Amino acid sequence: MFGAMQDTAARMPMIAGNWKMNKTTVEAVTLSQQISFESDKAWEAVEVVICPPFTDLKSVFNVLTFDHSSIKLGAQDVYWEPDGAYTGAISVSMLKELTCEYCIVGHSERREYFGETDETVNKKVKALLAQRLHPIMCCGEDLDVRDAGDTLAFIGEQVRLGWKGVGEEDIAKSVIAYEPIWAIGTGRAATPEQAQEACAHIRGVVADFAGADAASKMRILYGGSMNTGNAELFLPQPDVDGGLIGGASLDAKAFSTLVEMALKAK
Ligand code: PGA
Repeated sequence: MFGAMQDTAARMPMIAGNWKMNKTTVEAVTLSQQISFESDKAWEAVEVVICPPFTDLKSVFNVLTFDHSSIKLGAQDVYWEPDGAYTGAISVSMLKELTCEYCIVGHSERREYFGETDETVNKKVKALLAQRLHPIMCCGEDLDVRDAGDTLAFIGEQVRLGWKGVGEEDIAKSVIAYEPIWAIGTGRAATPEQAQEACAHIRGVVADFAGADAASKMRILYGGSMNTGNAELFLPQPDVDGGLIGGASLDAKAFSTLVEMALKAK
């Protein structure tokens, strides 16, 4: 299998917290302070990213800057146009000014509730990369697709369309999160074998269109009910480079434990 042959040591593990539509500004300050308090120097060996709602970015930025924290900031979405009459939208420059280095795109909740398509995902990926922000592009199948045995073909297509027209160097610096929809927020995580199979497949697909070098550098995360009770099974998988964490990222102790587990796993 393609992925298993890659040099995993070259890829820094990543633990990214997706806070979704949770935490007011006051609550976000408290949670980011708690996470920062739990962190220590060793965390520099893992890329730790927190992705709060837009309205919390500035206050979380202030907390992390005040603490000289190595924790990085990410957003949960972005619009591809640079500026203009797009009521409610947030541009890449706006995120960049708040020192966001990462941005989630194509989360299944955005695809389901906000009409995100592979085409809009691709536009967002390109807009982010044009200003050197790293996309964390989500892909994943629902239960019908899995039960029909079409999972690998389905996520392969999402990945191909999402990265269409993107150069190899940009792909190497980017992140994909494999998040089976049936596992998100349900407490029913994929098995480690399912996660490894999907992540290895994604790496193989990326190798097909961007070359083996870019594919071996790109980080691929597992997401979907990853928590402190199951992460030790996912994190050592050869093609799983970390986790995109929803529910468990809202608890500072749980999130910190996941970072510690990622440190030990690789
Ligand atoms: P979950 O969410 O960890 O709560 O399942 C993951 C995600 O949607 O990114």
